[in-house]
Parts: sequence; C-alpha cells; structure tokens
Amino acid sequence: MPTMLSHVLKSLVVVLAFSAGTVSSQSSSNSLVSRRLTEYLMPAASETHEFARVPGTNFVLLSQMSDSQLIKIELNPITEEPIAFQSFPMGKNSKSGLHGVWPSEVYPGKMWLSLQWENKLVLVDPGQNLSAVPSIIKTIDIPEPGNGPHCIFEIGNRVWAGLKDASKQTGQYYVFSADISNSTDKKLYPCLKSPVFIKEEPATKLIYVTQDTESSIMRINATSGETSQLPIPPNVGSTPVGMATAHGPMNGVWFSLAGNATGGSGSFGHIASTGEMRFFKLKKPYLGTNAGLLHIADASTVAGGPALWLLSTSLLSTNSPDALILVTFDEAVTKITGEEYISMLTQNAMVHRVVPMESTVLVSQLHTFALAQLSYNNTVAGHWLPAEALSNTAVYTEAS
Ligand SMILES: *[C@@H]1O[C@H](CO)[C@@H](O)[C@H](O)[C@H]1NC(C)=O
Ligand SMILES: *[C@@H]1O[C@H](CO)[C@@H](O)[C@H](O)[C@H]1NC(C)=O
Ligand SMILES: *[C@@H]1O[C@H](CO)[C@@H](O)[C@H](O)[C@H]1NC(C)=O
Ligand SMILES: *[C@@H]1O[C@H](CO)[C@@H](O)[C@H](O)[C@H]1NC(C)=O
Ligand SMILES: *[C@@H]1O[C@H](CO)[C@@H](O)[C@H](O)[C@H]1NC(C)=O
Repeated sequence: MPTMLSHVLKSLVVVLAFSAGTVSSQSSSNSLVSRRLTEYLMPAASETHEFARVPGTNFVLLSQMSDSQLIKIELNPITEEPIAFQSFPMGKNSKSGLHGVWPSEVYPGKMWLSLQWENKLVLVDPGQNLSAVPSIIKTIDIPEPGNGPHCIFEIGNRVWAGLKDASKQTGQYYVFSADISNSTDKKLYPCLKSPVFIKEEPATKLIYVTQDTESSIMRINATSGETSQLPIPPNVGSTPVGMATAHGPMNGVWFSLAGNATGGSGSFGHIASTGEMRFFKLKKPYLGTNAGLLHIADASTVAGGPALWLLSTSLLSTNSPDALILVTFDEAVTKITGEEYISMLTQNAMVHRVVPMESTVLVSQLHTFALAQLSYNNTVAGHWLPAEALSNTAVYTEAS
C-alpha cells in the first residue's frame, strides 16, 4: 500500500508539474495586463507640495511647505518604488516656507529650492546618500519689491520663480528671473495675481507664465523685456496652473485649467510657436467634464504616440475628482483619441503634482501627505485591451 500511494503521489506531481509548465508557457505568450496604484505615506504635514527626481540618481526630493521640511526619498533603482525616506528642515525655521523643487542642469546633481516666506532661492547639494544632510551652495535673494518665490525653474542659464505673494512695497505681483552666473543680472516682470508655472516655448524661446487667480497667461520676451497677456476665455474654463514644454509632435507649451470653487471644466490648452492658443476638453461624463486640471506632464512614448498626463484635483472644489488622466492624441495632435481615468485611492486628497519617472508615474497628495505611484505591467499607458477600455457608458446612462 505505501508503495502504491507513493506511486500515485509521484504521478500527481508529474501531472502538476506538466500543467504548471503549460500554464506558464501560456502566460508568457498572453501576459496579464495590469496597472497598480500604491500610496507611500510621508511625514504628517498639512501641505505636501512639489517634487522632482535628482537626475541620474535614485533620489526624489519632495517639499512640505507647512513645516518647511525637505523629504529625501530613495527609490528602488529597478522598480522605482520608494523604499526609504529622511526629512531635513530647510531654511531658518519651520516658517521658511519651502516650496519649489527643480533640478539644475547648469550644476549637474544639484537642486534648486525656493523658500517662499524667506523670499529667497537656494541651490542645494542633496548629498550622496539618504542620510547625508543637503547643503546649500548658493543663495539668491529676491530683490524688492518682489515677494514670495513659489515654483522655481531653470531655463538655459537663468533661474525663474513666480512670486506668489503680493509685494509688501507695491501690492503687485512679479515674475523673477536671474542669470545664474551673474549675480547683478536680476529682473522682476510685473504680472497678474499669481504667477505659478514658467516654461519656455522651444521654437521661439519665449517664456510663458500661468497666473492662476486672474486666469491669464503672460508671455515674456526675455531679450527685449516685453510682456503681454493671453487671457483664458471664461467660457472655456479658468485658473491656469500647470504648464509643460513639449517637443516632437506635441511641440509647444501645454497648460491645464484647474477651475474654481464650483468645479472644473476638464479643459486644457496648447500654445504653438505662432503664439496661437488652442483648447481641448475631456469628454467622459462627470469624471472628465468636472475635472479640475491642476497639473500636466508629457506622456508621449514611441509605442503610444503623443499623450499627456493630466491631474484632476479636489483642491479647488470637491465636485472635481482626484484622478490621474492619460489623454492620447492622433499623430498630428489635432484631436483627443483616448481618455484613460485612474481614480486616486484617497479621494479629497487634493492631489497636487504628477511627475513621470522612467517607467512609473508619481503623484503627490497635498492634503494627505502621501506620494502615489502608478505602475503598468505588459502594456503601454493608454493601450488597454479593448475589453478593458473605458467604453461602457451604461453606468452613466443609468445614473442620469
Ligand atoms: C508586474 O510584474 C512584476 C513581476 O512579475 C510583479 O512583481 C508586479 O507586482 C507587477 N505589477 C503590477 C502592477 O501588476
Ligand atoms: C553618507 O554621506 C555622508 C556625507 O557624504 C558620509 O559622511 C556618510 O558616511 C555616508 N553614510 C553612509 C551610510 O554611507
Ligand atoms: C552682468 O549683468 C549686468 C546687469 O545686467 C550687466 O551690466 C553686466 O554686463 C553682466 N556681466 C557680465 C560679465 O556679463
Ligand atoms: C524678442 O525680442 C528680440 C529683441 O527685440 C527680437 O529680436 C526677437 O525677435 C523677439 N522674439 C520673438 C519670438 O518675437
Ligand atoms: C467658475 O468657473 C465657471 C466656468 O469658467 C464660471 O462660469 C463660474 O462663474 C465660476 N464661478 C465662480 C464662483 O467664479
């Protein structure tokens, strides 16, 4: 009997091994397509803001403004998953208002930060490892009457910052720009309330600035110093915030409209080298048409074609969902061909920024001090299998 049993068991093992082999060969030819969202909790703070990867490293720097802490986050070099973090106070004290974070190319490996409530910009060496304390290697004071550097960018040999707070001397708002290697070359451009993102149009080298409250975009010719305003038509939407420079078929400057306290309009726009503004609108009922689009990033890939990541936030209105939205375009970028919605795990998180890594996408949550990471397996973003595409509108029809 024991012999029989062992024989039966052996053949079972063989059968199992055989079928396991069959399953695995099937799975490699027909791999499971998936996407996954994971939240990584940061230290508790009421305002988790900007973040950027330190180029060529596995570190991401994230600002928490409410207590002026800089969080250094280490990523797994292969999966890009956050694996550890350490926080460092930045500025004189917890009221220094650490906000902007931007990588320098002029100083490779160094990062620009803004201390909004100290009215200064600093360039830091983030350090070679997780525990190394970031050291300040350069400080740029914002001259009067400028006040409150918020987002910071390096464009060519200049550093730019939108001064979000009203001037103590004039009550006006300004965009600041300085030559990185010439400390006497500092400029303030009067603008509308309040400048946020600052980007360069690649063909003309003109600078564009979103101004949120006054719902207008300023254009700056940094050579001549001339500025002009491109107001957002109110019937399209309001509150331009996020802006991104794109190359290739997407060429130009893209911006998103965050809406207002009554909700968003799912609108975003493009500025071509001719200066012409074009608007696009999400079509998916509720999810898209109420979207308050706070931030935007180029999502184009060779396999997927021209695309954008758009971040809808509950920051201005709880009528807008917290969602990451992938929008794909036709080859000539004349119309939207696909809208993929990824609802954030925590609603009313007031998602803030979207930053694509090599193979994953990171999203910061202003109000719930988390960093969310989206990862895809065996698919290109926007290229879902037909069965998984968001094409079934039955639920919306029933709801209405
Ligand atoms: C992707 O595949 C890897 C390895 O097979 C697995 O560990 C991971 O959980 C998968 N991710 C998703 C989003 O399914
Ligand atoms: C981290 O870097 C600092 C400064 O470069 C160095 O003193 C320290 O030994 C390093 N720590 C580890 C764990 O490598
Ligand atoms: C530095 O900037 C100042 C002010 O714009 C200018 O007068 C000066 O020529 C610049 N110096 C150099 C070395 O370019
Ligand atoms: C910016 O101003 C300079 C100097 O006046 C001018 O030569 C240039 O054509 C302007 N750039 C654009 C794109 O208009
Ligand atoms: C919000 O924006 C919409 C669309 O632009 C506009 O119709 C509405 O008047 C705005 N509401 C407020 C309170 O500003």
